[in-house]
Amino acid sequence: MTNHQSETLKKLPTHVAVIMDGNGRWAQAKDLPRTAGHRAGAEAVRVVVTECRRLGIPHLTLYAFSSENWQRPQLEVRELFNLLLEFLHSEASLMEEKGISLRVLGDVRGVPLATRAALRHVVQRTARGTGMTLALAINYGGRAEIVNAARQLLREGKRPEDITEESLAACLYTKGMPDPDLLIRTGGEQRLSNFLLYQCAYAELYFTSTPWPDFGAEHLRQALSDYAARARRFGKTQEQTHDG
Ligand code: FPP
Repeated sequence: MTNHQSETLKKLPTHVAVIMDGNGRWAQAKDLPRTAGHRAGAEAVRVVVTECRRLGIPHLTLYAFSSENWQRPQLEVRELFNLLLEFLHSEASLMEEKGISLRVLGDVRGVPLATRAALRHVVQRTARGTGMTLALAINYGGRAEIVNAARQLLREGKRPEDITEESLAACLYTKGMPDPDLLIRTGGEQRLSNFLLYQCAYAELYFTSTPWPDFGAEHLRQALSDYAARARRFGKTQEQTHDG
């Protein structure tokens, strides 16, 4: 192992979040239907989950379906949920065996019944896993999540002074999870697209033009190496953090 690689492993993020973009363009560039891009994207999910598990990254969150994605053609929406269903069917035993615990972030009430049932089943089946958390953001929107949290606090009868960053965070879908340290977006766009807005306050952002279906273990290690080289200061000065 080179010095550079061992430095990367020493400064691994605790939580990596990924916006898996570029499936459609990957497919179109190959004269394939967009859904073929999503299918190839599901393969990339397997590869990246396996690599994170191998490296010992405790939390991985993937943006699988945003609350805005309903506006896509019906066929594409159906195919995305079918892929998710296939993924759950094919990966549940391996996840259980490897101690990967599944978690869902988002409003699952809108999700087609079969997929919702499979999600519930795999979440229960893998609940005792302590190796790694795989969180799938499905029918997720960051602003709606914050609004829901505020409503929940009001319903609980909280007074203004009881509302703190911690009490609000405890009403988010990510309750109990650490904030992402590293947010990766593939596919060339450089925006957050309503993903984990509250949680990514101090996340390091990594953008790559590589479309998601082409993003493999080597690309992930490149992003981790880039992250390891950054000095995180959380608003403090360089001297205060003694870092970098
Ligand atoms: C964005 O690409 C990607 C999505 C909207 C869905 C991501 C879904 C998967 C990778 C497959 C299923 C997921 C799991 C967890 C098995 P895009 O279609 O917006 O690409 P474009 O910008 O090139 O059109």
